Amino acid sequence: MKVTSYEGANQHQNSLQLKRVAFYGRTLSEYLKMFDINLSLWKDCKILDCPGGASSFVAEANKLGIHVIGCDPLFDNDLESLVQRGKADIKYVIERVSYVPHLFKWEFYPTITALKEYRTLALQRFTEDYTNGIIQKRYIKAELPKLPFKDKSFDLVLSGHFLFLYSDKFDYSFNLDSILELYRVSSKEVRIFPIQGQNAQPYEHIETLLSELENKDITADIIPVSFEFQLGSNQMLRLIR
Ligand SMILES: C[S@@+](CC[C@H](N)C(=O)[O-])C[C@H]1O[C@@H](n2cnc3c(N)ncnc32)[C@H](O)[C@@H]1O
Repeated sequence: MKVTSYEGANQHQNSLQLKRVAFYGRTLSEYLKMFDINLSLWKDCKILDCPGGASSFVAEANKLGIHVIGCDPLFDNDLESLVQRGKADIKYVIERVSYVPHLFKWEFYPTITALKEYRTLALQRFTEDYTNGIIQKRYIKAELPKLPFKDKSFDLVLSGHFLFLYSDKFDYSFNLDSILELYRVSSKEVRIFPIQGQNAQPYEHIETLLSELENKDITADIIPVSFEFQLGSNQMLRLIR
């Protein structure tokens, strides 16, 4: 499926060009694909989603009996502010995607409308869970590169659509420090997706990063996943203890 002819579409633009970190999120079904997760293997485990954003992974996974905590700098905001911010950012990001449809694979989401439906569903499921989730401490305010958790607090740590993707706004040191922090709070694995920036190119310092991790005796590899929306964005970075 080829999505074209949007107002403002520019075949020569080679980057998504998001001017701010979007409060935007995916559903559990998308998380399972982009992080290659078999939930039955993580049933009795504790998972961290950092940053959670407007994703419904925490809400949906907890309903299935999986212990997941989400953290994000915005998780001290009231519900209404997050609903408004989430709706505004869905509109903002989808508009930017529609300017550069040639940078995306229109398969999982066959159309812009389907993409918007997924994003709206995630925001709705997240916001339905937020008030109780704050009380039950499954949504926690936290900001990389420092997290308010003890060493090895979580078996699996997931980080989607933040590191690398916004590397025009966060430098190499920030990315490295954040990854080391995610590793510190994990006891088994860290998974990070995608490893591309908004220009649909692999993170430019990935080789340096991998060798720094190796120097610290951290096992890290790049693994293919069965999810690809931004063209070529079909791999995750995995750190294992
Ligand atoms: C696009 S969302 C990621 C949502 C989710 N992980 C996903 O893949 O659908 C990016 C989030 O990063 C959060 N963020 C911004 N600065 C951050 C920081 N320094 N540390 C952690 N999260 C941050 C934003 O508040 C936003 O909710």
